[in-house]
Amino acid sequence: MTDTPNTTPNTTSTTTSTTTSTTAPNAGIGGEPVTVIGLGLMGRALATAFLEAGHPTTVWNRTPGKADALVSQGAVLAPSAAAALQASSLVVVCLSDTAAVRDALGPHRAELAGRTLVNLTSGTSDEAREMAAWTGDYLDGAIMAIPDVIGRPEAFLLFSGSPEAFEKHSHSLDRLGNATFFGADPGLASLYDVALLGVMWGTLNAFLHGAALLGTAKVDATAFAPFANQWVASVTGFISAYAGQIDRGSYEAEDATLETHLATMKYLVRESAAAGVDTDWPARIQTLTERAIDAGHDGTSYASMIEVFRGQA
Ligand SMILES: NC(=O)c1ccc[n+]([C@@H]2O[C@H](COP(=O)([O-])OP(=O)(O)OC[C@H]3O[C@@H](n4cnc5c(N)ncnc54)[C@H](OP(=O)(O)O)[C@@H]3O)[C@@H](O)[C@H]2O)c1
Repeated sequence: MTDTPNTTPNTTSTTTSTTTSTTAPNAGIGGEPVTVIGLGLMGRALATAFLEAGHPTTVWNRTPGKADALVSQGAVLAPSAAAALQASSLVVVCLSDTAAVRDALGPHRAELAGRTLVNLTSGTSDEAREMAAWTGDYLDGAIMAIPDVIGRPEAFLLFSGSPEAFEKHSHSLDRLGNATFFGADPGLASLYDVALLGVMWGTLNAFLHGAALLGTAKVDATAFAPFANQWVASVTGFISAYAGQIDRGSYEAEDATLETHLATMKYLVRESAAAGVDTDWPARIQTLTERAIDAGHDGTSYASMIEVFRGQA
């Protein structure tokens, strides 16, 4: 499931046709035929990865001009969404949002019978479950990568939905990056997605706030970044340790108590206020920590804050 994606360009394909067709000209070169619906920034990267791995690739986009470069690399531009669905038994869709998927594919649901639909469009877990009702062979996916790294080992993708569909197509999906399957609940990949995006935004906001604070002392963000990165690496260790405490439900203060955290948080709020930097973010953390202490978690580790996030403090 995690083999290194083959990113060797499909040099055996000589097709440069810009005409529309539903029969891939590079069919049979290597890999199963795949259809990619949606050629925005991410969809084009997905189609490119399939092409480079030798998959006969059919594409469709509402605005057909976005297929030009892919067609010159050997993709076939389908004349309609319905024709694109008919072209392959593996259909990957990556549009702006679930409403766009409903718009583009809703009228053609009958064409999904007997095909696997892999929905890499971001959405909520409920939306994923709604989409899963469209076809038995449904996989919902979350892309934890930017378009530039699709097809490279550092890209990782999360899937949930039909185990049979994942089993059948995991080799093809691995072309996009390392694929992990979370089981039959189609909503789980989306839930992981938003949880991981929260980790990203939390980390980035902390960095940006810190850069604003140090900027008041004429410290460049590029000077701050190596220290921020080193500290984030240390924090990954805290995450692993606290995960065990959360799962055990016991929050021994092996490193620092919540009160110690609260005292230093107040310095962050005070420094921010004194420097004229926005205090909203550190003040919110302070408020959450105070709630945990008020709820009786004084003397425990930072992991006890999980009770606040669970709405139980
Ligand atoms: N970009 C990233 O780094 C990244 C990373 C992870 C996940 N994602 C997810 O991947 C998905 C696509 O992102 P993107 O960056 O490729 O966005 P994008 O560049 O804005 O592309 C959006 C795509 O959706 C199509 N679309 C929008 N509304 C439509 C409709 N009503 N009917 C048919 N097609 C419609 C657009 O078609 P037109 O070309 O005709 O407008 C275009 O192909 C999003 O759900 C995003 O959250 C993106």
